[in-house]
Amino acid sequence: MTNAFKSIIDTVDKDPHPYYEELRDKGELVWDDKMGGWVVISYELCRYIEEHEELFRHPYADANEVLLKIKGGPRNITVLQGQDHQNLRRYLARMFSLKAVHDYTQDILKPIINYLFERVQHKGEIDLAVDIADQIPPRVLVALLGMDWMDESLVKRELVLHDQIMEWIGGNRTAEVTQTALAASEELNAILLPHVRLRKHQPGNDIISRLWAEAPEVFADVSEDDIVAICRELFLAGSDTSVHAIANAYYLLLTQPDVMAAVTNDRATALDNFIEESLRLLTAVQYRFRVANQDVTIGGQLIKKNELLIPSNAAANRDPAKFECPHMIDMKRNQPRAHLAFNMGPRMCIGAALARAELRESINALIDKLPNIRLSESNPKPNFAHLYIRSYRPLHATFDPSAN
Ligand code: HEM
Repeated sequence: MTNAFKSIIDTVDKDPHPYYEELRDKGELVWDDKMGGWVVISYELCRYIEEHEELFRHPYADANEVLLKIKGGPRNITVLQGQDHQNLRRYLARMFSLKAVHDYTQDILKPIINYLFERVQHKGEIDLAVDIADQIPPRVLVALLGMDWMDESLVKRELVLHDQIMEWIGGNRTAEVTQTALAASEELNAILLPHVRLRKHQPGNDIISRLWAEAPEVFADVSEDDIVAICRELFLAGSDTSVHAIANAYYLLLTQPDVMAAVTNDRATALDNFIEESLRLLTAVQYRFRVANQDVTIGGQLIKKNELLIPSNAAANRDPAKFECPHMIDMKRNQPRAHLAFNMGPRMCIGAALARAELRESINALIDKLPNIRLSESNPKPNFAHLYIRSYRPLHATFDPSAN
């Protein structure tokens, strides 16, 4: 039976994978009228497009006034192009290296996770999406930026604001969504600005202070607006992505008891492989956008100069030409990190090591701190919610409350 979807947009709040398989039968790339671009389905083509920025530019290369406002300014890394982009990228990669993430895990991530699980351990019932997944990454970024990660209203508000911006980034450009994203951007700037000003003269042990000290290596004329713009992207990219990846990993563990058992018994290889499989199978950032720099034929299709391409990393991550039994978790998959959850190429995710650490620690805590956790029978069932950035939610679950 075929479903009635005609566009990626129609899959909002529904499992998009049957539709991706319909598209895969039609070819490696298929025109989507509502999106106004070519949805790219195959792994090879998605990867090729992401790796060849000289042929397929990031759409923010054509940034207009509205986009610059929503992204916080021209020195947001996703807006930068060419050498400026590479220079900032090389610098930020050091800030999120394996060694740096190891330190953030000890100093920030583990205390946050302990705090969140201690808050719920006695309860016996929980929504893992709202009470845990939504709480960890925003607090980590708040802490990295030198703000108070226990400030409940700040944490709640920043996730709402980033959600509003993500809806716009995902392609919903109605006047209402655009206005909401613009207002969210202004509010986020207003949240960050006092901290940026404070840290210029009173440095602390945080990213904003490091940027004041080190960003002149990248931009000799660095201004407070630039620091805000750089932080804005870290804040967005680090908050409203990992929350969905954690929720998706939890969903898979709670619905596949054999996988839960394997991970419980092996917190090294099995856990690491599960993390990669969860990123592949339930890809949090479903698709991205690129624009053809010239007429080019790919996948047997002529793409005209300036046409929009929509590499669907979610569909690519289930391409049978790349992944054997693509719809299943395979804990022994060859090259488990070959998936496109973080993109490939010159704009590959800078925060992948931090995201993996957040997944690892949040899964360990789930298993160790909420014994006998299982999905609740009596509450609404999880649904693959949203469109552009997705996760299974709600995740109502019950467990044996601890006496602590
Ligand atoms: C599971 C969680 C995450 C996922 C699925 C994810 C996914 C992605 C993807 C797909 C891109 C490429 C965007 C494009 O150019 O089309 C990207 C870029 C980026 N990510 Fe992540 N990300 C995650 C977590 C993080 C974290 C924790 C941070 C850091 C705080 C981060 C920082 C960035 C930055 C700065 C870029 C822009 C890179 C550039 O333009 O050169 N991400 N991410």
